[in-house]
Amino acid sequence: MNGEIEGPASGYNRTMKVMVGVSGGIAAYKAAEVVRALQRHALEVRVTMTQAATRFVQPLTFAALSGHRVMTSLWEMPTDASPDAPIDHIAEAQWADLLVVAPATADILARFAHGLADDFLTTMYLATSAPVVVAPAMNSVMWEHAATQANVEMLRRRGVRIVEPDAGPLACGMVGPGRMAEPEQIANAVLNALGRSHDLAGEVVLITAGGTREALDPVRFLGNRSSGKMGYALAEAAQSRGARVILVTGPSALHPPIHCEVVRVTTAEEMRQAVLARQAEATLVIKSAAVADYRPVVVAEQKLRRQGPMTLELLPTEDILAEVVRRRRPGQLIVGFAAETEDTVEQGRAKLLRKGADAIVVNDVGREEIGFDSDHNAATFLTLSTAIDLPFMPKRKLADRVLDEVVALRRPQSLLVELSSTELELQREMPVREGSSVQQDETALRESAAPRRKALMIE
Ligand code: PMT
Repeated sequence: MNGEIEGPASGYNRTMKVMVGVSGGIAAYKAAEVVRALQRHALEVRVTMTQAATRFVQPLTFAALSGHRVMTSLWEMPTDASPDAPIDHIAEAQWADLLVVAPATADILARFAHGLADDFLTTMYLATSAPVVVAPAMNSVMWEHAATQANVEMLRRRGVRIVEPDAGPLACGMVGPGRMAEPEQIANAVLNALGRSHDLAGEVVLITAGGTREALDPVRFLGNRSSGKMGYALAEAAQSRGARVILVTGPSALHPPIHCEVVRVTTAEEMRQAVLARQAEATLVIKSAAVADYRPVVVAEQKLRRQGPMTLELLPTEDILAEVVRRRRPGQLIVGFAAETEDTVEQGRAKLLRKGADAIVVNDVGREEIGFDSDHNAATFLTLSTAIDLPFMPKRKLADRVLDEVVALRRPQSLLVELSSTELELQREMPVREGSSVQQDETALRESAAPRRKALMIE
């Protein structure tokens, strides 16, 4: 329903899959937090437990958190499994992009090191070619024992990543090294092992996606060809880089990425209200939606009848992007998109100046293989002083490239630069939109840069 916030839906883009192995130590209860931390980074998680682990925590806890059956035995088959169903530990080993064991007891480290495979977890360890991360947790004397250290060293040499235990008070009453690392630290090690950056951790990203619809009568509307693919790809990318994502979306047939907060809207005015209502929470706003520029003055209550030629009277909608810029809070970055069909870079630059955003991603929607409803896109990322070419690539990849540039804007160096006369000179050399003088553009340029400079002073 419009304006309502939805919980997670099934995945849209390929999500990285992580198997969490839980072995039997007191820190097993903290594995639930590890699962949650991984899910916050948009990873799909399944869990396997050793028999000893099930004495500390019920498998039901992990089944509820992961939404999947928890593997606890090599011999347990679902009652409805067909005889030719794949063998679980092999199927799971192939399913996982990474295996993380948290907590990893001295026993499990020894079994991994020596290739013993008499339960689901140890068998899966041998059967997987995916990266393995272990987070040991045990009594400090056990941790420091030469046998444990030799096993850890052997695993390290084989490429297993060790998330070193912390020092502190232990469950056994001793004080020393052996306490399992914090769940977020384990999640970070997993992300690093997967080669994923989490450079947007701590950011709240408000993204608009899809097209809006303006009703003419109860059955017809003015709309556009936006599928939501670009915006959903941005949402997935931002989330996988650690951001909390609020996705305000027009009607779309796509499933939004898991774990992002979805606000569904239909009209430009609904989108405006949803965006303004959530703007204060956001550290970054990305407006990739194709918002209607006009709406009918009158919406017919009954279906319009065919009666020869018809003239529609239209009114301009509010410019949400410009309003968001006017209301920006200190430190908030605002990125717009521009859909152009001619002189794309010049038109994009004119929009950047007119709307006062920090950046505009301009794409040529006249090209059939990119833009609306395509799985691919190509664009130019424009700021006051740069024009970065983002060549033809899948939208999901382009989303990451856009975010790379946004992250670069956050760097103090680029933010601290005072708008210099050199920058203005650069702007003069760039094409200016028709009907505007250089003087007007300089004013717009100074005005649009001012909030950012002010924000920096506050920060
Ligand atoms: O959804 P897909 O099928 O994947 O297609 C992706 C896309 C082509 C829609 C996307 O890449 C794109 O170009 N989005 C911007 C579309 C657009 O409305 O551009 P515009 O040039 O008309 O508007 C410029 C900016 O102002 C945009 O950030 C837009 O969200 C914003 N705007 C426009 C009108 C309005 N009333 N309010 C706004 O905030």
